[in-house]
Amino acid sequence: MKKPALRLLACVLATAAAVAAVAHGDVTPHPIDTTGLKALGSDWVPANPYRGDAKAVEIGADGYEHNCAGCHGLRAESGGVAPDLLKLDLDCLKIAQKAKKDACLDDTDDYFKGVVLRGKKTSEGRFTMPAYDSVFTQEAVWALKSYIDSRTLEETGAKAN
Ligand code: HEC
Repeated sequence: MKKPALRLLACVLATAAAVAAVAHGDVTPHPIDTTGLKALGSDWVPANPYRGDAKAVEIGADGYEHNCAGCHGLRAESGGVAPDLLKLDLDCLKIAQKAKKDACLDDTDDYFKGVVLRGKKTSEGRFTMPAYDSVFTQEAVWALKSYIDSRTLEETGAKAN
């Protein structure tokens, strides 16, 4: 059994660590509660099935702020530490023809999924972005992508069709 003084010290240290984590932006992966979204099962679908879904955007926004904002910026407005995620879909959204636009977005969905699940490493193997494959369901990944799409539309005034 720990002595009360030691317990107090442990508590102070834990609080200090939590404050430090917040000060630098929380970059620890957190699971995302996707209650309310259509369940997709364990086999990955090739592209975002929630594209344009308001509930997915809402869940993605919350998941984004808890997991990604520390590096990619609040509301996906990059402060330059990590790439600007609002550029990911930009070229696709400028395509007028719907079938071509959708095919282009399918490609960015696939790219996004790959990066989020595997994270990013330097050539020496140091993670510059965490891998989220052990914490995110596919519902969570697609909700995040729905949020990024929606923010890109908001920022550019491009139209979804
Ligand atoms: C610890 C900081 C950090 C966190 C947290 C983080 N990222 Fe990243 N992310 C990076 C860095 C740095 C890169 C660029 C790495 C490189 O190119 O080598 C990157 C790259 C990416 C890319 C590729 C961008 C491009 O233009 O090719 C995507 C997509 C991405 N992150 C999405 C996310 C999402 C979604 C989250 C939250 C679930 C997230 N990231 C959390 C640091 C982070």
